[in-house]
Amino acid sequence: MTTLRVLTGIKPTGTPHLGNYVGAIRPAIQASREAHIESYFFLADYHALVGSPDPQRVHRSTLDVAASWLALGLNPERVHFYRQSDIPEVTELTWLLSCVTAKGQLNRAHAYKAAVDVNVAANLDHDHAIGVGLYLYPVLMAADILMFNAHQVPVGRDQIQHIEIARDLAQRFNHIYGSEFFTLPQAAVDENTAVLPGVDGRKMSKSYDNVIALWEGSAALKRAIFAIVTNSQLPGEPKDPDSSSLFQLYQAFATHAQIAEMRQAYSDGIGWGEAKKVVFERIDAEIAPSRDRYQSLIARPKDIEDTLLAGAARLRPQAQALLARLREAVGLRSLASFAPPIAAPKSKKSKGPRILQFKDDDGRFNFRLTSAQGQVLLTGLGYLSPAHCAQAIEQLRQLVGSATPLKIAELSLLVEISAEAAGGIESPLREWAQPALA
Ligand code: TRP
Repeated sequence: MTTLRVLTGIKPTGTPHLGNYVGAIRPAIQASREAHIESYFFLADYHALVGSPDPQRVHRSTLDVAASWLALGLNPERVHFYRQSDIPEVTELTWLLSCVTAKGQLNRAHAYKAAVDVNVAANLDHDHAIGVGLYLYPVLMAADILMFNAHQVPVGRDQIQHIEIARDLAQRFNHIYGSEFFTLPQAAVDENTAVLPGVDGRKMSKSYDNVIALWEGSAALKRAIFAIVTNSQLPGEPKDPDSSSLFQLYQAFATHAQIAEMRQAYSDGIGWGEAKKVVFERIDAEIAPSRDRYQSLIARPKDIEDTLLAGAARLRPQAQALLARLREAVGLRSLASFAPPIAAPKSKKSKGPRILQFKDDDGRFNFRLTSAQGQVLLTGLGYLSPAHCAQAIEQLRQLVGSATPLKIAELSLLVEISAEAAGGIESPLREWAQPALA
């Protein structure tokens, strides 16, 4: 069976809540136990810096989130568990991807558009107080995913667009640089659990301040669930499960049979208090065993640090190898790779003096001897046929080979000697004749 690489990140911007658990942590940990799955889980701490949050808070929630994943059953021996910023190649990849990103595509990203909408509604400049970090968020996320060639990315539905952007950038980069550097990732959204409602019925999100905390204990969990907004229908009145966020929450934790039972209870007119009690008990039963583990992990932060560092150390060579290939591809290359200047190929012409045969203007066959530099040293007298010409060349060769020193006067019987060559003709002549006579 081929290995499926599954990757997901969670932003350390607070303490994890039920929405993080259901949308990301739980499905990821479940999947990581399957033999054919190679999992990459990381703390998206670079992402956490968007909007410049309080550094203490970033620090603290990094610990919280890491402890949460470990407490909920993540096995750091089996999966790649790391902190994004421990692999700084991610930021370099972000830049390389930025350079193939269409600005218009980021203009259409949901989170950015939402921020613009707020400004427009307030009659402010469209980009008022919007940082480039928010704008580039999808590119940084693409770098997380593409760095390890993830096949699948388990995310909440609100993140699907980000995975689409990552696919797009992968495709574009592959296309521009002409190789399959990146695998195209796919979003994996669990249809049943995708978006968890918060206590006010909107999507559970830190930014809405409607979350149900994971670790505040049984009593707090109960309070939060009892604070979920419901309508004013009385016990006994049939209720609509499909418009009830309490029911939606329950679906994320209950079995099919339990969900069917609850659906029946709604139409039978279960009271809201009663329904909340069932929901609380179901969720608490699932969370309680991890609570103690969480507390003991939080008490040993150094161990968590070591676990994260070990996770990054294992992966970093892979990131470095990919970056090396990408740098090469985009032209960030060693200058030493330029070959030393190539000397003009040495043709026969430049090797030494040589004989050229040709046909005269008046139809006779003739030859000339040129020096290595192309200077005409002597010219034949002109012959009736190519064979006569060849004979004259051979005679010349013999003569040059035997005569010591060469007598220009003798030569003159055979050839015309160019006036300017006359002085220094001897050695080129010998050079020409030698190989043939040897
Ligand atoms: N944007 C994700 C969120 O807010 C967190 C995240 C960052 C992520 N990088 C990622 C999720 C890569 C999946 C893959 O939940």
